[in-house]
Amino acid sequence: MNETALSRPIDDESARAVSEAGLRLTLVDTTDDAAFDQWIAADFRGFLSEHPKPEVLAEARDYLRDRRTTAVYDDAIPSAASPIGTVNSWIAPVTVPGGGTVPGWAISSVTVAPTHRRRGIATALLGGELRTAKALDVPIAILTVSESVIYGRWGFGPATFASEWRVDTKRVRWAGPPTGGRLSFTDPAAYRETGHRVLERVMAGRAGEIGLSPYLADRLLGPLKGNSDADKYQLVRYDSPEGEPEGFVSYLVKDGDDFVRHSVEVDYLAATTDAAFTALWRFLLELDLVAEVHITTRGVDEPLPFLVSDVRGARVTSVEDHLWVRILDVPAALTARGYEQDGELVLGVTDSLGFAGGRYRLRVSGGRAHVEETADSPDVTLPVSSLGSIYLGHDAARGLATAGKIEGDADALDRLFRTAVPPRLSTWF
Ligand SMILES: CC(C)(COP(=O)(O)OP(=O)(O)OC[C@H]1O[C@@H](n2cnc3c(N)ncnc32)[C@H](O)[C@@H]1OP(=O)(O)O)[C@@H](O)C(=O)NCCC(=O)NCCS
Repeated sequence: MNETALSRPIDDESARAVSEAGLRLTLVDTTDDAAFDQWIAADFRGFLSEHPKPEVLAEARDYLRDRRTTAVYDDAIPSAASPIGTVNSWIAPVTVPGGGTVPGWAISSVTVAPTHRRRGIATALLGGELRTAKALDVPIAILTVSESVIYGRWGFGPATFASEWRVDTKRVRWAGPPTGGRLSFTDPAAYRETGHRVLERVMAGRAGEIGLSPYLADRLLGPLKGNSDADKYQLVRYDSPEGEPEGFVSYLVKDGDDFVRHSVEVDYLAATTDAAFTALWRFLLELDLVAEVHITTRGVDEPLPFLVSDVRGARVTSVEDHLWVRILDVPAALTARGYEQDGELVLGVTDSLGFAGGRYRLRVSGGRAHVEETADSPDVTLPVSSLGSIYLGHDAARGLATAGKIEGDADALDRLFRTAVPPRLSTWF
């Protein structure tokens, strides 16, 4: 974690708002195990998880220590050492169209105790995060959300969507290309370094994915401490015919009523090549004694229907908003990404929180953008949340225009921003 981000003092405006409510906002010293344990336990409680056991706390402390960690305390209550509000943040590289990255202010663990809900505590926490990111010149903020109704008010827009699938493996047959390479069972400890390298390539290969910390990477390889299904996890690696590690799948098998009808819950499928992708999918679909494969957080373009004999045997069971993007610096964000079309537009961006509003002339030439502020009248006017929604290449411009959330030439905007491959974030953070 960037040292400045970790040590930057708490945001004054948020501290004032919280103090006016009779509460105390502060950074948590994550080297103080007792204080950090209370924070971790409050975070678990916020997401309705069980009380973390000592080994779970120890693991979480190791993994999360280097995030900027903020708490709200109510010193008037008997359990005052336990925070009633939590948030943490760090700077993560976000892959953008064209293959580069932009620094993203990643926000996680936003919780407010149900005893203190709807008093503006989350508002104070979020405002503080955005002002801190802005002060550190981080061009966008990002998060994944528990409920999609929460973050639009702070200028976030849904920028990637994720699909969930259930495949009836007794119904479908493999209809993809011949598969090769070598599949083998391994375990997370033995595969860790290799798995991290595979994940780095997966994350760099698609707009919307983010660079993963050891915590975020490790939990895709196997279960974390305290996982009640830990003993059921399996990890299978794929190596190319030349011996190059190109992918893995982590999954667990759940019992069915019938021994020949188990179901497989895929934790994560990583593939850096089509050969790895098809071999791993084929492996899952052809597992004996299994009747269903369930997988989540895939892209909206997951090619599964084309890989099976019976398209309706592979059902999309949901498509949901996944990564939310909040643009904080329009020129920095727009020049960080690449474009598949050249063109020119004046964007009128509105931002009720005052971070990114203004008129910007965007000129794209040779796939790269030049952005400058202008007084000219806009071709397109949109709230910053809509700009966040189209930023990574997603085809949202038309829908947003229909909803009145883009005014002006939405088609021109769409042509400039949309990418042939839709953005995807394949994990949570
Ligand atoms: C979501 C959560 C952090 C909100 O905290 P809070 O302190 O109650 O939020 P605030 O009082 O600052 O609310 C700000 C605004 O958001 C709205 N809001 C907050 N949470 C909402 C929710 N879950 N659904 C709908 N609206 C919500 C409030 O009504 C309020 O609206 P207003 O400005 O129009 O009055 C809290 O309910 C919580 O911890 N939930 C469980 C964990 C969780 O889901 N965290 C989010 C992780 S992504």
